Amino acid sequence: MSSYKVKETPGNTKWFTHDRFGMFIHFGLYSMPARGEWVMSRERIKIEDYKEKYFKHFNPDMFDAKKWAKSAKDAGMKYAVLTTKHHEGFCLFDSKYTDYKITNTPFGRDLVKEFVDAFRAEGLKIGFYYSLLDWENENFPIDINHPRQWYEDAKKLDEGRDMKKYVEYMKNQLTELMTNYGKIDILWADYSYSELPDWAEIRIKNNPWMQFGGLKGKDQWQSEELINHVRSMQPEIIINNRLEIEQDIVTPEQWQPTDWITDKETGEKVVWETCQTFSGSWGYHRDEHTWKSPKMLIDMLVNTVSCGGNLIMNVGPTSRGYFDKRAEDALKVYENWMKYNSRSIYGCTMAEPEFKAPRGTRLTQSDDGKRLYIHLIEYPYANLVVENLKNRIEYAQFLHDGSEVIYEGDTDLHTYLSVEMDGENSVKFKIPTYELDMIDPVIEVFLK
Ligand code: GLC
Repeated sequence: MSSYKVKETPGNTKWFTHDRFGMFIHFGLYSMPARGEWVMSRERIKIEDYKEKYFKHFNPDMFDAKKWAKSAKDAGMKYAVLTTKHHEGFCLFDSKYTDYKITNTPFGRDLVKEFVDAFRAEGLKIGFYYSLLDWENENFPIDINHPRQWYEDAKKLDEGRDMKKYVEYMKNQLTELMTNYGKIDILWADYSYSELPDWAEIRIKNNPWMQFGGLKGKDQWQSEELINHVRSMQPEIIINNRLEIEQDIVTPEQWQPTDWITDKETGEKVVWETCQTFSGSWGYHRDEHTWKSPKMLIDMLVNTVSCGGNLIMNVGPTSRGYFDKRAEDALKVYENWMKYNSRSIYGCTMAEPEFKAPRGTRLTQSDDGKRLYIHLIEYPYANLVVENLKNRIEYAQFLHDGSEVIYEGDTDLHTYLSVEMDGENSVKFKIPTYELDMIDPVIEVFLK
């Protein structure tokens, strides 16, 4: 067992910290404009116009849940989180509480159901993303993120909007999501904004009528009540921290931590998951070209686990329902790497503190402590010196092809010119002086 003590949480995170790698899926009407999932707010689109264009024409005719599930599985992902409803308010499931749902589009089917069945059949755990924001619901008070805040009639439109009724709506939908689809492993609620961001100051000043100062957080969402409600139906479920109450996972977004994330108050290590995109957008974005390189994709996964965390990588399917070539290629990168190297990811965590990562490397270690994985993020030249490994190695090999990696320190290498060793407890691995055909090759060390 790893010696790190991690803050206890109400849900079951045991499988989660073992599995390490998941797929996020952002899919909704916003896949049609193909300008990102915030398009309605950013472009200040009125709900009537949004419906007229997108709701009326939504038909992902090429959607095949089995294909999605297979790509996720092949990429080595062990769980998936789907946007059952994003900020636009449109529901991918057949809800009794709204007409603004997928079964009322030309597509006509409950996509959440098909997602659940297909992913579960592939052995993946099931997560539901649920947006707390809702730009369609007429009880959702207009605020600093709302598309209608910019219009002259915004104040009038806001009159009579009743947050209590909106919370009731969320509660009802969460009941549907938590009871109609079998066991749900993750609820990914999104998100709270109770603190005034700099950019919003002027908007709030100009719109003094906005309820709750234009902001929303745990008091407005009634987070405690929602959480208890969800747990009463799914006791083991993992809930993220975006209801503004710490639960099971902390969720750094679009950046890579360089150390284990800790609780702000107690300093304890926490369970965490970083969410990232292949390009700059969550929802399908045709003209977004900042796609990450294959090496960056692998680096991110390795770095995450070396800091004791999980990575959830996002796919934004096209509005016809398939993963476009760029997304497929990115998933292939993981597939090709995980096929050979997944042992350094699953069931692994930050290496014990006695092991220091040499320059240009990341370390992971199996939870039982028996194997240390040295990830060569910057390919070293000829030698790699690692401290505190002397007399600790039973055997060492490259993980991708199982070829022995020889070393000096407690062994004599008569085949190599001996180079002076730095550090008494160190060993020096002999690294081939040409680049191996593998991104971030991994040395697997069987520890004594
Ligand atoms: C942000 C965005 C949202 C995205 C989410 C994923 O909160 O509002 O569009 O779904 O991040 O983490």
